[in-house]
Amino acid sequence: MSGHSTFEPQNGFLKWMESRLPIAGLVHSSFIAYPVPKNLNYFWTFGAILAVCLVAQIVTGIVLVMHYVPNTTLAFASVEHIMRDVNWGWMLRYMHSNGASMFFIAVYIHIFRGLYYGSYKAPREVVWILGVVIFLLMMATGFMGYVLPWGQMSFWGATVITNLFSAFPYVGDAIVTLLWGGFSVDNPTLNRFFSLHYLLPFMLVGVVALHIWAFHVVGNNNPTGVEVKDSNDTVAFTPYYTIKDIFAIVVFLVFFAWMMFMVPNFMGHPDNYIPADPLVTPPHIVPEWYFLPFYAILRAIPDKLMGVLAMFGAIGVLFVLPWLDTSKVRSMNYRPLGRQFFWIFVVVCIGLGYLGGKPAEGGYVLWARIFTVYYFAYFLVILPVLGFIEKPKPLPASINEAVLAKHGDSAAAEARA
Ligand code: HEM
Repeated sequence: MSGHSTFEPQNGFLKWMESRLPIAGLVHSSFIAYPVPKNLNYFWTFGAILAVCLVAQIVTGIVLVMHYVPNTTLAFASVEHIMRDVNWGWMLRYMHSNGASMFFIAVYIHIFRGLYYGSYKAPREVVWILGVVIFLLMMATGFMGYVLPWGQMSFWGATVITNLFSAFPYVGDAIVTLLWGGFSVDNPTLNRFFSLHYLLPFMLVGVVALHIWAFHVVGNNNPTGVEVKDSNDTVAFTPYYTIKDIFAIVVFLVFFAWMMFMVPNFMGHPDNYIPADPLVTPPHIVPEWYFLPFYAILRAIPDKLMGVLAMFGAIGVLFVLPWLDTSKVRSMNYRPLGRQFFWIFVVVCIGLGYLGGKPAEGGYVLWARIFTVYYFAYFLVILPVLGFIEKPKPLPASINEAVLAKHGDSAAAEARA
């Protein structure tokens, strides 16, 4: 899609460079002249927002590490030291902890956008699969980061989640010992989590680069789900989408700033302000909010191994989604039945998130079971079957036609002016 570069070096140095390392041409063809469907809505700005989140997490993380001590006797105190003594330390820490939440809010919107508009379908399977890898890396990074302050939730969350691996027959205990670096969550565990928490974001950068490369090859999907036909359907990325992305990033940052300055502990758990104590188990051990739907699936199933498999399966199923959805039509805008099942799916995911934060008893478990069944049925039954029985609405002949149908009058007036 980005195709052969039309970049013409403007000065001698660029000319010299272009014939040796054509980086300016690459930037030009990927982020300036790159043709983008002209009907993208604000849901398409979340990719850029996510890129900002990733950079912000890395920058704030690196500065936090200058003051943090990855040792069980000092970790908690070092975080308090950052909050109280280090210049702007409180802000740095709140940026990083709320930044993680903002990152997940953005990624969930980005994923559900993809689900709604069928962005995972051919030829974007690899873009999607790389996205699922990114999501897994993000979850691993978030989980290990939460352990670092060594508060009560850090310690007990780590204990519960690492113990899950013991459910696997034969190798389970060996895996858990390896994760712990000993026979309980302790200093070696904190050290390896710290090391990996530092490493994974850089792996994320690598996979994100592949993700962006992959969608530049196949081109962006768009709200109609109809492929680009000719240059009437597209506009250049710069200035149209650079400006739109920047505007969305600013609005997102205003919300981020509000969270960070006004309710910085809203997303956290008060127990994490109590130093880790292996002898006192908190009454309710809950992971961070962005894991709650998966936590609810884990606890919905009475058998430990099956619960663990279902939890991983809930993400695993996303890898094969491009081949499960049999509909020829991408966008749910043109799928009357698919759209209804999609919105039920959204409610079910939010419901699972709510239930993941509640104790695993009584009606909560019952609802978690019902929602878990729907979660898997959506991918394994509904999407495969719908493709055969659903009658989609007529698709526009082109993106341009869809835009003119929507804004035809004003477009015609503009053309006359
Ligand atoms: C650090 C995390 C991520 C970053 C920085 C990122 C970045 C981007 C960017 C810049 C785009 C193009 C603009 C847009 O469509 O918004 C994009 C598109 C896309 N992303 Fe991501 N992404 C991330 C995570 C994910 C995840 C977790 C998934 C799915 C599981 C995913 C799936 C997709 C798909 C399917 C597209 C193509 C959308 C289309 O053209 O309609 N991405 N991503």
